Amino acid sequence: MSSDSSTNQQWGGRFAEPTDAFVQRFTASVDFDQRMFRQDIAGSKAHAKMLAKVGVLTEEECDQIHQGLTQIEGEIERGEFAWSVELEDVHMNIEARLTQLIGITGKKLHTGRSRNDQVATDIRLYLRDEIDNIEQELQRLQTGLLDLAEREAETIMPGFTHLQTAQPVTFGHHLLAWFEMLTRDADRLRDCRKRLNQSPLGAAALAGTSYPIDRAYSAELLGFSKPTENSLDSVSDRDFAIEFCAFSSLLLTHLSRASEELVLWTSAQFDFIELPDRFCTGSSIMPQKKNPDVPELVRGKTGRINGHLIALLTLMKSQPLAYNKDNQEDKEPLFDAIDTVKDCLRAFADMIPAIRSKKDSMYEAAKRGYATATDLADYLVCKGLPFRDAHEVVGRSVAFALEKNVDLSELTLEQLQQFSDIISEDVFDVLTLEGSVAARNHFGGTAPEQVKLAVKRAREALA
Ligand code: ARG
Repeated sequence: MSSDSSTNQQWGGRFAEPTDAFVQRFTASVDFDQRMFRQDIAGSKAHAKMLAKVGVLTEEECDQIHQGLTQIEGEIERGEFAWSVELEDVHMNIEARLTQLIGITGKKLHTGRSRNDQVATDIRLYLRDEIDNIEQELQRLQTGLLDLAEREAETIMPGFTHLQTAQPVTFGHHLLAWFEMLTRDADRLRDCRKRLNQSPLGAAALAGTSYPIDRAYSAELLGFSKPTENSLDSVSDRDFAIEFCAFSSLLLTHLSRASEELVLWTSAQFDFIELPDRFCTGSSIMPQKKNPDVPELVRGKTGRINGHLIALLTLMKSQPLAYNKDNQEDKEPLFDAIDTVKDCLRAFADMIPAIRSKKDSMYEAAKRGYATATDLADYLVCKGLPFRDAHEVVGRSVAFALEKNVDLSELTLEQLQQFSDIISEDVFDVLTLEGSVAARNHFGGTAPEQVKLAVKRAREALA
């Protein structure tokens, strides 16, 4: 590699003095963009192949470039590659090494391209690969939820509004609510992938290139659905990264809601579930403690992801066309969002199948909360009482039961009849928790039968 020590190797000609050492560090991205080395190499190989196809490179030159790049990929994988801050970013590090390895042909690789379309291509490829990994992990979590929901289809627990006991529900039904949230997240993820999967290669610096390039060919080689339409837009917008972070924010919002419930449910006050010890930690001072750290951390990481979304939105806002160096700031938030989402999904996918429900405790809690009060009202309505009057009768019955410290189902028929003489023996069918959930037997309802049907439908949709 020829180099003039007084100027930068990559844009030497115009400059009269070398880059300030601080500016070099300040403007470099190699510390964090080197993780895209595989995509950078794949993009370069496709570009070289396209250049050979249109006759800008010879076949031998293209082969040489491919061999050199393959060698570099090996060096990086084995940890033998010497990354250099002076070479600023992953793109120039690899290109410089290529020229060192294969000489003058290495310098021809950058024909008809710019780092601007190169980096836009690399990020899209990188994110696309990670989206595929994330989709799989999301599916693993969803499958675990379905298995658990099926096992817990008959388990009765209190359903809440305002975190006050409202009506009995089945635990399986509750878990399927989480499942639905994740189904929409998975949809959003696939949608994001679809939009980002277009090739910016060939947009060059901003205006395209005067070489007779074949953009559709390089797009196809890289598995993109097509080349992007507009060169200015191609090199500048990072909306796909923003979209991914928006997906991540919603996913983490959902996981944090589930986390919050897991934390509540493992507390002595609720005592609904048991998380296995391997997902919990103890306290260094309080020997009795078993803390649900994993869901707590997932809940906490939501803030970090929301921060990344706002960072990228703010980064993009007001940027004039086309590429601006601001865009180098896209990577750290995006990469951290990817890493965080993968970790949180993994934590959940591992943890969910290991949850053990404490059925007696859930049942007792549902009973304590007068969860079948609405069922009593519905019963009275069926017997001809207007709903508002029924509400009043039940309210007084609950007050009476509260005073006696018993559940509605534990009142005697005579006691219930004080509040309405249309109540008869069959009232006890609806006052039980089992009767209450079984009665909600329609599409989307909490009845065990419906939970099993919903699991079946969901399995078919997932497959
Ligand atoms: N490291 C840069 C980035 O991440 C690559 C593109 C630089 N292009 C430029 N004209 N300075 O955005």
